[in-house]
Amino acid sequence: MKKVMAFAALAAFVATPVFANDGAKLFNEKTCNACHGPEGKKPLMPNYPRLAGQNAAYAEQQMKDIKSGARNNGQTAAMKGVMHLVNDAEIKAIADYLSKLKP
Ligand code: HEC
Repeated sequence: MKKVMAFAALAAFVATPVFANDGAKLFNEKTCNACHGPEGKKPLMPNYPRLAGQNAAYAEQQMKDIKSGARNNGQTAAMKGVMHLVNDAEIKAIADYLSKLKP
């Protein structure tokens, strides 16, 4: 298991193009990692979603919906509070970055 994780980390590192680096940077700078964990793999709470490997188009839409309020349930409030920190282009870059991570 450890070997698999190490390989996944290495593969993600080697395969990360410049564009995805922006997403990675944003993910950490915009506090996303605080709740979703490093690389979106270890959520702070068991009822927070893991994001690594999620479909880019889906993640992008969910982020926009949470930001706009179209997605609004018992848990979205926590995340909505930080969504003013990211614009549409940044949301897209983060979604692309997340989709390329090994779950
Ligand atoms: C304060 C904690 C918190 C922060 C900070 C936060 N999120 Fe979230 N995020 C959540 C929670 C909780 C949910 C689940 C919301 C729900 O149940 O509707 C969520 C949902 C999501 C989803 C949808 C996942 C799915 O499977 O539908 C994405 C994508 C996401 N967050 C990305 C981000 C990004 C990118 C950032 C940084 C700009 C961020 N989050 C910052 C707590 C947070």
